[in-house]
Formats: sequence, structure tokens, C-alpha cells
Amino acid sequence: MSYYQVKSLEQYFKHYNKSIREPRKFWDKIADENFTWYQKWDKVVEFDMQEADVKWFLNAKVNITKNCIDRHLSKRGDKTAIIFEPNDPKEEAQHITYNELYDRVTKMANVLKDQGIKKGDRVCIYLPMIPELAVTVLACARIGAVHSVIFAGFSASAVAARILDSQCKLVVTADGGYRGNKTIELKSIIDEALEKCDCVEKTLVVKRTNSTVTMKEGRDEWLQPLLDAAQPNHVAEIMDAEDPLFILYTSGSTGKPKGMLHTTAGYMVYTAYTFKNIFNYEENDVYWCTADIGWITGHSYIVYGPLLNGATTVIFEGVPSYPDFGRFWEVIDKHKVTQFYTAPTAIRSLAKENWEWVDKYNLSSLKIIGSVGEPINEEAWHWYNDHVGKKKSPIVDTWWQTETGGIMISPIPFVTPTKPTYATLPLPGVQPVLMDERRNEIEDNQVVGSLCIKFPWPGMARTIWGDHQRFKETYFTAYPGKYFTGDGALRDEVGYYRITGRVDDVVIVSGHNLGTAPIEDAINEHPAVAESAIVGFPHDVKGNALYGFIILKESGEDRNRENLKKEINEHISSHIGPIAKLDKIQFVSGLPKTRSGKIMRRILRKIAEGDFSNFGDTTTLLNPEIVDEIKNERL
Ligand code: WTA
Repeated sequence: MSYYQVKSLEQYFKHYNKSIREPRKFWDKIADENFTWYQKWDKVVEFDMQEADVKWFLNAKVNITKNCIDRHLSKRGDKTAIIFEPNDPKEEAQHITYNELYDRVTKMANVLKDQGIKKGDRVCIYLPMIPELAVTVLACARIGAVHSVIFAGFSASAVAARILDSQCKLVVTADGGYRGNKTIELKSIIDEALEKCDCVEKTLVVKRTNSTVTMKEGRDEWLQPLLDAAQPNHVAEIMDAEDPLFILYTSGSTGKPKGMLHTTAGYMVYTAYTFKNIFNYEENDVYWCTADIGWITGHSYIVYGPLLNGATTVIFEGVPSYPDFGRFWEVIDKHKVTQFYTAPTAIRSLAKENWEWVDKYNLSSLKIIGSVGEPINEEAWHWYNDHVGKKKSPIVDTWWQTETGGIMISPIPFVTPTKPTYATLPLPGVQPVLMDERRNEIEDNQVVGSLCIKFPWPGMARTIWGDHQRFKETYFTAYPGKYFTGDGALRDEVGYYRITGRVDDVVIVSGHNLGTAPIEDAINEHPAVAESAIVGFPHDVKGNALYGFIILKESGEDRNRENLKKEINEHISSHIGPIAKLDKIQFVSGLPKTRSGKIMRRILRKIAEGDFSNFGDTTTLLNPEIVDEIKNERL
């Protein structure tokens, strides 16, 4: 029996039970039967969840790109690996076959080597959603360099902090990037970032927008001439199962970016397995995930998962609203997309528009539609089901995280009956538990608790780059022996999970995770600001938006408030990026604090939501009178 794909509900329970009773045998078989290895493992897994030490497929040797590309060439050489759909619908789409992908990746690998990049070196990738982004990611993996993709919407100082944290030696960027009717000047952002980064020796620049750029002598080079001169073919580096594959930064409860480190073999096995099951990929399908490769969804389910399965994956450069609100549906119709994977925020923004935008196009190619990034509300779920899925394509509401590497809780299409707003059941190999306030495991159903995972799975992050202590403290200390997700969840009477949202200081705005601490740090640097507290509040389209409570310094008191608000938002944009801007700013004379000096965010959250009914216990507040003032002046 093969465990690679679940085909019925009965089989799901069989596989699930096997994966719990005999996790080693379960993953051993999947890894053994579905990948190309230079050398197999001595041991499937070794772990100490107290110390946050986890290793999978010990001593196995592998290269993930051999599995993404080379092994498909004999059978699928002429099959399209990547369809590139440009921002401008008038620009022709590109179809890149597996043979061409091999050619491009190996040449890029040789370029990186020629630039002195060796196994273990970190390479920063700051590119728009163009094929070069996927090619560079794969070229790094080919030579064993650790890629650190930074979403091309982050500002120069956010980019610099990430480059410095992982000490990248080389940056691959572009002159600019198109997004809807905007052009983003990526190279000049990199120039500014690199003023602070001595570790970077070289910058390779892709030409995309023909923007005017300055090229620094000795550091910056156009990529194309190097590719033209590069040798074809490259013998893939032999990687240990636990060699680092990539770093991807995510938000945390302090201002310092958290570089999640994923390693090679476990991530490979897990993304391939989950892609196959969640998207039920069949040979001639065309799969499209609308995420950006700068986020984990793009890493696992635009690049690695699909290519590991020999799929055709769409890379879309644009946005859902450009040139009009029909763009997603037009692209599905044009490329006959069979699996479509997007975010609730996109669904909500399109559901606001006339549904005729959807009905204009033929969506009959669709078989499965998916959602990721935040809880999908009931209304959006039904709109997606009715207008896009036409009530026949199951919705896979997939819950997972940058830290988990791949999807953890999700319906398996045509197998698991769906239920609106529920991510439903854990995938085989995943052991979720809900914990109560006393840190005990909740056995009952119909209760909300903190979501933890009590057994390792192959795709989990192994550490925070350069800070294992922080990794341990953030994820493995609150509930000793378990991985704590930071999310709350409800389990219903049949064991389905519904994710209720973050229980920590991360707010998800339009699908982007934003730590409130780094935003507060940025605001507090503004000369007129004394202190600030940021919380999330519900927003129709974005899911959540940010509400800032700000105390001004005496010197800032006489300033024009509207100008100040603008300046504060510009400050946030330049420190973090436009995605972190505040929707509402309320100037206050104080913040509710406990006697130990901690801001009581619970109260601020309630005020921002407009829910004044029950602030809970406020007796521990040092300054309870401030609550009324803030409440009365709420925006
Ligand atoms: C949230 C994205 C509800 C959750 C893959 C998680 C979700 C965080 C869902 C991780 C979902 C993701 N339902 N909430 N289907 N998917 N989330 O690291 O709060 O960008 O902890 O990874 O997004 O976001 P990240």
C-alpha cells in the first residue's frame, strides 16, 4: 500500500491512524517511494521537543532540485513547468518547459558559483513575481546556498535588517517591478538598504521595467550578460537531509525579524506530500496559487510542492484588481486553471464588486479552490463556493504557518466533507491538541483552546537563524513538549478544527502577518511620539486593520494632528513597508498599564473593536481612569 495519496475518507482514517501509531514507518515509506536520493537515511526522525531539536531522515543525501526538475526530464521534458502571466494582460504569457527550466536553473547556478557563492552562503532574493524569482530560488538550492527571499514590498530598512541578520553575501534584485498600475523601484530600495550592509559583496540585477538605475562599480552587475556567458548544466550539490534550504522571515513579538530556518529533506517530503493531497494534482492540470513567492505559501505551493510533483504552476505578476476586477477569472479562463489557491482578503475584496466580473468568464476548468492565510468568514466562504466553485469545486481551507513549512489542517478534496469556516481535519502525520488556560490538554469538543502540535512533522522549521534560544522560547516553552502555534482554535463535535485567530501580538492584515512590536518601535522613533500601542480591529476587506493609540511628547502636543498622523504613517512605510500603515490613530494621554508596567492590550483591543461590554478584570491596572478617556474618544 502506498501512503502518498489519500483517496477516500476510509483511507484517510487508515493513513491517519498509521501515521500516529507508527509515524516512522509512515514517513519512511512516503520518503522512500516518491523521491530520488543519493543516499537513504539511517533513522527517520530524532527529536527532543523540550529542547526544540528535531531532525528528519538522518544522514540522507539529496538535492531538492534534482527532485523538482531533473527526475521529470525523461517523462515530462516538454511539459510546461511554469506559466508566467505578466502584470499587463497585453504582454504575452510565457510557457517554460521542464527542459527549459533545467537550462535556466543550471545556468543561474553556474552564475552564482562564478560569483563566488558556495554551499552554506546566504543569498538574498528581492525580486518581483517573475520567472527569475523561481529560477533563482532553485539555483540557490542547486548549489546548496541558503536563499532568503524578501517580499518586494518591504522598505529599505526592513530589507537591511533581514540581510544583516542572515549575513547575505549576494543579492539578486531587479531594476523594478510592476504591480497593477504602479512600478516599484526595487533597485533603488536595495541601494539604500545596502548602505548599511557590509556583508553583501555582489548584486545581480534583472532587467524588468527599464527603470533608470545606478550601478555601483564592482558590486552591481546586470544578470542577463552573465547568464548568456554561463556554462549550461550543473551537477547538483549533494546536500545532507538537515542542511539548511532557506530562511524566511516572519513577524514576532519583538522588533527583531525572526528568520525561520527550513532544512532540506523533511521540507521536500512534506511539501510534496501535502501538495499532492490537498490539490489532488493530476498530470494535465494547471495549478495556480496567487500568493507571492516572498511568503511561505509561494515557497511551498508555487515553487517546491508543485515542481516536486511535476506540475504546471502559474506565476502571476499582477494584482486581482488590475486592469479590472475580472483579472483572476480571466486568467483562470485563459490558462484553463484546474486548481486555484488564494487568500480570504482577495476573495472579500472581489466579492464587494459586482459578481458579473466573475460570470463574464468561463471557469468550468476549475476542480478545486483553496484558501489560506487567515480565517475565511462565512460570507466570503459562500461567495467563493457559489460564484467561483459553482458549488461543485470543493474549497480547501488550509491552515498552516511559515513555521510549519506546509499545510497542517485542511480538507482533502473529494474526501473530507467541507464545512464553512472550518479547516476541518489534520493531515496524516499531524497531531493537533487544544490547551486550556491551565495548560492542560482539552479532551472535550466544542471548546476553544490554544492550538499546539504534539509530535514533530517533517516540514517543521528547525530553528530561528542564529537564535535557537528564541526558537525554543517562542514555540516550545508555553506548553512544554509541544509546539505552540500562536493560534486559537475550536474543535467541533466531529473533531473538525476551526481556527479562531491569533492569540499573541501578531495581527493579520490582508493576509500579511504583522507583529505589533516592530510597528510600535518604528512609531516610537518619530520625534513627536512618546509611546504607542498597536492592536488589530475587524475590517470588511482586510480581515483586520491596525489601530494605533499614541501618546505624544510635550514637544509634539502643539503639532497639527492630521499632519502628524500622515507623518507617522510615512514613518511606518519607510521603516517596515506600506502594508503596516495604521487605519486609525488616536492620540491619548496614557495607556492602560499593569503595575508591572505592561500595556494591557486586551482592553485596547476591545475599545478598538467598539466592544465596551466587558473589559474583564481591570483591578490590576495602575491607571484605571485612563480606560474611560480612551473609550470616550474612540475613533
Ligand atoms: C493564519 C501562511 C485561519 C494563522 C501559510 C497562522 C489561518 C498564520 C489559515 C500564519 C486558515 C493561515 N485559517 N487562519 N486557513 N491559514 N492562517 O506564517 O493565524 O504567513 O498562524 O503562513 O496565518 O501565517 P503565515
